[in-house]
Amino acid sequence: MATAYYDVGPSRRGLDACAPAANSARVPTLHRHDRPLPVAPSLRRGLTPPLSVAPMMDCTDRHYRYLMRQITRRTLLYTEMIPATTIIHGDRARFLDFDPIDHPVAIQLGGDDPAALAECARIAEGWGYDEINLNVGCPSTRVSSGNFGACLMQRPAVVARAVEAMRAAVSIPVTVKHRIGVDDHDRYEDMLTFVHTVAEAGTDRFTVHARKAWLKGLSPKQNRSVPPLRYGDVHRLKRELPHLDIEINGGFVDFDSVDEQLAHVDAVMIGRAAYDNPWLFADADRRYFGLDWAPQSRRAVVEAMIPYVAEQRAQGLRPHHVTRHMMHLYAGMRGARAWRRHLAERGQEPGVGAEVLREALELVPADA
Ligand SMILES: Cc1cc2nc3c(=O)[nH]c(=O)nc-3n(C[C@H](O)[C@H](O)[C@H](O)COP(=O)(O)O)c2cc1C
Repeated sequence: MATAYYDVGPSRRGLDACAPAANSARVPTLHRHDRPLPVAPSLRRGLTPPLSVAPMMDCTDRHYRYLMRQITRRTLLYTEMIPATTIIHGDRARFLDFDPIDHPVAIQLGGDDPAALAECARIAEGWGYDEINLNVGCPSTRVSSGNFGACLMQRPAVVARAVEAMRAAVSIPVTVKHRIGVDDHDRYEDMLTFVHTVAEAGTDRFTVHARKAWLKGLSPKQNRSVPPLRYGDVHRLKRELPHLDIEINGGFVDFDSVDEQLAHVDAVMIGRAAYDNPWLFADADRRYFGLDWAPQSRRAVVEAMIPYVAEQRAQGLRPHHVTRHMMHLYAGMRGARAWRRHLAERGQEPGVGAEVLREALELVPADA
């Protein structure tokens, strides 16, 4: 059963060290803020944050997460999906490094080999991540041809073995993000069998994207909108297995709908709306985490991003890598289009630095 997230005591790491204990040498420097960072409670097994931002390829990279942390300090953030083979054979620092401000942050793994996933989980815990999440929802053919992602819903025993191996390798939560079903295996009972089997292995939380995936015939993008949302199936899952932590995902664009869902499930995950309207989360810490903190304004967020962009620039990274995630910060506001255009065009110019943000601030209301 979920424990109220805001009951958590101070972080095991403390205010000065939002940094992960195990590998602080590998993690980039903590950026200083005008106000001290509220302590981010560590995740531990049995605790479910009521709100999270979904893992999204090409979106939820460390720069996006840095932006989100200027807006919400407590919402659980996820990495993009990282295949286990990439961690085992690839440039680890490139794929795993993150800023200490990202906490609490979950890493999402893709794979189906329990031993490889356990090894990745161990590496990720050492790198400082707060949670290990397994992707059982991605419908792309590339991922399915590697036998992981959504197709794993048809192999619950494999997922159970993977979870069991990861749980044995780490002490942080091990969670699973999955669909309601895949292809013709889309009855409620199919999902129940999956969840039941995988829960036995000790899964700490199930995040259910409340629509099935069609592995043949629909693109990943269509698979996020064409199959209908079936919230009722997720509510029923929680009703029938109340001891499990269940998070619902799919189609939520405002906090009123989050409130409605929290009457049925333990947590809500928001994907596209968090990217298309990051300011939506300005009220998240107060509303869901009992924290007396909120960003002062969008402008304050941008001002906090300026030294970050300058620092990334000094390390050779073009501002666009950061500012592309800021395009929608003024969504719905006067000047939003000019803001976006300026970031898109000027942000790509050779030699441009953090001034791109200072210039763009001239195009939007000063009090927003
Ligand atoms: C651009 C994009 C990339 C995504 N990448 C991932 C991913 O890496 N792993 C994953 O589990 N889901 C991924 N998803 C699915 C989201 O996590 C989420 O389940 C889906 O968008 C439904 O939530 P929403 O309606 O709130 O957007 C992606 C979605 C989008 C839009």
